[in-house]
Amino acid sequence: MTTPFSTAAVHIDLGDRSYPILIGQGLLDTPSTWTDLPKASTALIVTNTTVGPLYAHRLQTALSTHYKRVRCVVLPDGESHKDWATLNLIFDELLGQGADRKTVLFALGGGVVGDMTGFAAACYMRGVPFVQVPTTLLAQVDSSVGGKTAINHPMGKNMIGAFYQPQRVVCDLDTLQTLPQREMSAGLAEIIKYGPIADMVFLDWIEAHLDALLARDPQALAHAVRRSCEIKAWVVAQDEREGGVRAILNFGHTFGHAIEAGLGFGVWLHGEAVGCGMVMAANLSQRLGWVDEAFVRRLTTLIARAGLPTAGPQLGAQAYLHHMRVDKKAEAGEIKCVLIESPGRATVRAVPDAVLVQVIDAGCAA
Ligand code: NAD
Ligand code: GLY
Repeated sequence: MTTPFSTAAVHIDLGDRSYPILIGQGLLDTPSTWTDLPKASTALIVTNTTVGPLYAHRLQTALSTHYKRVRCVVLPDGESHKDWATLNLIFDELLGQGADRKTVLFALGGGVVGDMTGFAAACYMRGVPFVQVPTTLLAQVDSSVGGKTAINHPMGKNMIGAFYQPQRVVCDLDTLQTLPQREMSAGLAEIIKYGPIADMVFLDWIEAHLDALLARDPQALAHAVRRSCEIKAWVVAQDEREGGVRAILNFGHTFGHAIEAGLGFGVWLHGEAVGCGMVMAANLSQRLGWVDEAFVRRLTTLIARAGLPTAGPQLGAQAYLHHMRVDKKAEAGEIKCVLIESPGRATVRAVPDAVLVQVIDAGCAA
């Protein structure tokens, strides 16, 4: 048995909205994790029916030394509940308990809970503080960092939301031990993403340590979470509200969102759709002559080794295009994709429908 450890915090530098990302084992129960948080009389833990029974009691106990009242609201689990009706459960709880504008929200769960809690925090009384306590690999390496909060609309993924930064992100690696294997694979998609867009040395490392990551080796997880957060923090610090470079973090997402929306939210996991979307976006980059076949094969092999699908569902190219147009990068109906200019460098380009149809047709399961 190895000794529990924590790495030095990663800092995200956003002026007066800067905050630390704590990464380590046993953080939920470590008193110093929760010191120096905003002073308030009330904390509200937002979690779901799966994560709540596993971790809410421990978080409630830890927070009880800092807040007079620590309440908990338990949401239904799943992407299909990332909607207005479920968001309202958080407001019902806040208003029902007479929560004031100093109340601190704690998002305990994966990206769905994190995105919804962040959006609720941005809206309640025009903004209350919140803390991200991500418990999925995907949320620890991506969604809890950077302040994107949202719910889905039946016509489009994450279409209703706000940029709103948390006070702190607490990545307790121990929570990943209870995560289903399919969710581990989904998280690996967002880790792999950082290689082709920003750091090919990290891609080499992921290839070499993929088996350890799949086996949830704490040291390997710590490095993967840390390096992912460093890259994300570096990108977000340059472009908090996605006026430019931040869009590269959406590599694979334009195709991926079409898969999620086209199949119905929750049928494929977000990370699965992103994994497959990265294969399509890499193929598109190859068609433009920017990367070679060996690069596309290398990425596809890694995505498959991570346990992710590499061929898209047969929705029909027109259905893909329809959903890809409902994308925050699209302008005047023109679809924009994140493409790999050269390994380790990404860019965003408008792509003609005819080229997209070729890529989609080639990238879907027969
Ligand atoms: P999720 O939140 O649905 O969690 C996946 C599943 O794992 C759920 O059933 C959840 O209850 C369960 N779970 C969570 N932690 C667990 C644990 N420790 N043990 C056992 N089960 C656990 O999915 P996700 O992959 O974490 O997040 C996907 C969401 O994140 C999508 O809605 C996506 O749009 C969003 N996202 C947001 C950003 C952003 O920047 N805000 C970035 C990427 C993804
Ligand atoms: N997950 C993409 C972003 O945070 O910008």
